[in-house]
Amino acid sequence: MNSNDIINIFFDFFQKRGHKIIPSSSLIAPNPSTLFTAAGMQQLNSYLLGEKDVIKDFRTRHLVSCQKCFRANDINEVGDERHHTFFEMLGNWSIGQDKNGNYFKEGAIKYALEFLVDTLKLDKNKIQVTIFKGEGELPRDEESLKIWQKNGISLPKIKEFGMSDNFWGPVYQTGPCGPCTEIYYDRGEEFGCKKKSCGPNCEYCNRYLEIWNLVFMEYEKKEDNSFTFLKQKNVDTGIGLERLTSIIEKKETAYETELFFPAILEIEKYSNLKYQEAKRNFRIIADHLRAIVFLVSEGILPSNVSHGYILRFLIRRIARIEILLNLKEGWEKLPVKYFVDFYGKRYPELIDKDKKIISIIYEEKNKFKKTLEKGLKEFENQCKKFEKEKIIPGKIVFYLYQSFGFPIELLKELARENNFIIKEDEFWEEFKKHKEISKIGSEKKFGGVGIELAKNEKEKEVLTKYHTATHLLHSALRKILDLTVKQAGSDIKPERLRFDFFYDKKITDNEIKKIEDLVNQKIKENLIVKKEIMPLEEAIKTGALAFFKEKYPETVSVYTILNEKTGEVFSKEICAGPHVKETGILGIFKIQKVESIGKNTKRIKAILINN
Ligand code: SER
Repeated sequence: MNSNDIINIFFDFFQKRGHKIIPSSSLIAPNPSTLFTAAGMQQLNSYLLGEKDVIKDFRTRHLVSCQKCFRANDINEVGDERHHTFFEMLGNWSIGQDKNGNYFKEGAIKYALEFLVDTLKLDKNKIQVTIFKGEGELPRDEESLKIWQKNGISLPKIKEFGMSDNFWGPVYQTGPCGPCTEIYYDRGEEFGCKKKSCGPNCEYCNRYLEIWNLVFMEYEKKEDNSFTFLKQKNVDTGIGLERLTSIIEKKETAYETELFFPAILEIEKYSNLKYQEAKRNFRIIADHLRAIVFLVSEGILPSNVSHGYILRFLIRRIARIEILLNLKEGWEKLPVKYFVDFYGKRYPELIDKDKKIISIIYEEKNKFKKTLEKGLKEFENQCKKFEKEKIIPGKIVFYLYQSFGFPIELLKELARENNFIIKEDEFWEEFKKHKEISKIGSEKKFGGVGIELAKNEKEKEVLTKYHTATHLLHSALRKILDLTVKQAGSDIKPERLRFDFFYDKKITDNEIKKIEDLVNQKIKENLIVKKEIMPLEEAIKTGALAFFKEKYPETVSVYTILNEKTGEVFSKEICAGPHVKETGILGIFKIQKVESIGKNTKRIKAILINN
């Protein structure tokens, strides 16, 4: 049985129990407050909150999926037995209640046991679980404890933990969350630390591997960090496909399963080291390569901000590990092809992308390589200077960062490997002092991996692109929805645009797609953006859109976005700018959220990928 079989059996199991399969959503998070999709429930957040009607949209309360996920905060753990950047998550949901009742803790636990023990034939004796022991205002999960006992898992195979281990969510700052019960599989003594205290969540070893997280979402976390009851109860579960595959295939880790191993064998051919001699580095490089394949397939390109920053970081990291493994040039080709072919069967967006992926990797690596070797030498020199104290001052870290383009995470990693620590606080002070560099976004957004860094120049460029994208969006809204659509407000941040407008009807998913497609088409057509300065009156006469008439000065700038060859005008607005010169550089436009913010007012949040 391989991972594909596991997915099919999982789908079949839940379909037979009335669940509807929903496709994986994009790796780019549906809500701009986080970068990536990190859990299967993310696309269902509004249904779990009870804001959207699950019956209306899916005709059932029971859903099942296999979701592409990316977790940047696990990046330092990658290469061990449990962590990956990209991974897939199997999940089943029971959302809200109806008159026929719905399954909650009892049903979710029963299904989990039936699937693992009766269907996959895992040994029930090797299963251990954890439950929420209660913390602060939130009570202990007595009900789950009893259900496990009723189902033949008894103490001491049930352990209790607090918020940090057994409470899940919300995935955004606020939202649905709840206590969870986690299912662990005992892989046997040979994987263990042999300590008496060893068990689920052991801090010394990974003998007990968490395979399934059952979340009982009955709370909503509010902005002030308090919890209220949701108006409905939900089940949200997640199985790490990689971990389950390693157990089913009886392998030490997922890296030895068909998810990775054929790719690792290809990489090995280009090294003078064997997998067994440098396991961790082989694993990291395979993990990152797979993640890069998926990120590029979403249209992401290396850059200094947002998703592109993470992609850049992954490529720079493999460039460094390539040196540690003595990999000969060209090593990426076959493993990339392997991932593209293997996953392309399930994710058509990967098909035929291997050449593009390879060229993006090469281009980024070449840019970085020029400084990498010099930088590594310099890093060694600096280490020698601070050999005694084993601490590298922030100023030096900043110098390495600035002169050699080493992401801070990479510097931390280099320091760790050499038993040094770096003065990160000092680094950030230094960073702030250098006025030409600014920090945007929050660390939370990356879950600790990297902070979104951008030089002021870069930031300005991004904001300019969002300005132009806002004009394209505005015009697309008028063309697709109604010519009377009127701007109510606009807010641009380096990570997204927000556009409010007066419109009193519901906007359908089909319309959202059409709007998105039209903007992307106009980006592709590479329209030019022309700036003219003219009297306000004349601007209005020529049909330029103006919404705050009374606020405009007598002379205004008018920005026209038009096709240079045909002369066809797509958008014409009075605006102070700045704007890009050609739409082609905007990247991919993606609407992330459409909401009602007042009786007749709607709000759209959208991002540009690759900006
Ligand atoms: N949301 C939970 C998790 O990601 C269960 O799916 O673990």
